[in-house]
Amino acid sequence: MRHLLNPLDFTVEEIDELLAVADDIEKDPSRYAHVCDGKKLATCFYEPSTRTRLSFESAMLNLGGSVLGFSSADSSSAAKGESIADTIRVISCYADICAMRHPKEGSALVASLHSGIPVINAGDGGHQHPTQTLTDLLTIHSLKGRLDHLTVGLCGDLKFGRTVHSLINALVRYPDVKFVLISPPELRVPEYIREDVLRANHIEFKELGNLDEALPELDILYMTRVQRERFFNEEDYIRLKDCYILTPKKMKLAREDMFVLHPLPRVNEISVEVDKDPRAAYFKQAQYGVYVRMALIMKLLEVKQPC
Ligand code: NCD
Repeated sequence: MRHLLNPLDFTVEEIDELLAVADDIEKDPSRYAHVCDGKKLATCFYEPSTRTRLSFESAMLNLGGSVLGFSSADSSSAAKGESIADTIRVISCYADICAMRHPKEGSALVASLHSGIPVINAGDGGHQHPTQTLTDLLTIHSLKGRLDHLTVGLCGDLKFGRTVHSLINALVRYPDVKFVLISPPELRVPEYIREDVLRANHIEFKELGNLDEALPELDILYMTRVQRERFFNEEDYIRLKDCYILTPKKMKLAREDMFVLHPLPRVNEISVEVDKDPRAAYFKQAQYGVYVRMALIMKLLEVKQPC
């Protein structure tokens, strides 16, 4: 039985196959409408979510399966003190696959160790978010036609932003991907990303404080929200929350073929006027999240592609 806890749980070849299936689903979704008939997905969300939970549910419904679950810790037995290990043992009796989001780093890993069904990490604290990464890879691949030879700028809260950690982890496996990491000093990427992922793999990267300086050289700009819920004090959040705001004026500094991605939700970091720019790809990205989660559910349930 396979789980998805970290983007590296899949080989590059497996990710290529997943993206190819997602691509095929986008072209002709009706062929996939019954491949998961009779299967159930449990969405166990101990933290708020709109896109991730609903795109998982939409994905399973599109495949002909059904969904059950909870959308906050308060409405689960966690509120009574139940452990993740016990919860997942029980969910294994009710569903065929589980997508779990939890505020604690490592929670999906713990669940996978006690689970009778595949567990998908739908975000564990400030650690990893592999299904957002699959979404990001599908988006970049369909916009740029490749995942290699790219200069990727990641901007905002690189410390607590789990989508950033997972995306860097995944992209270092493709040839000639360079990173420009744009953040205030307090929100730089964690040490383990800098040392164990970037330096250990001899990846070219630079850390900048200034977005304007970075913009002209980027193929992809990945904007992120400052992660209020992971701050220890509100003053720091207030001081840092508007450190970067992408505006139409700033977009003039970017190349015509640069695309802007954002995992969403957006707060202030991209002004709504940028939405009209053909390079703004974040809503398209949210749509891709459904296709790639359909492909992922099929893979983990070992469902064959329809002929
Ligand atoms: C992200 C997350 O939950 O980490 N959202 C998402 O899943 N699309 C990003 C965020 O909350 O800022």
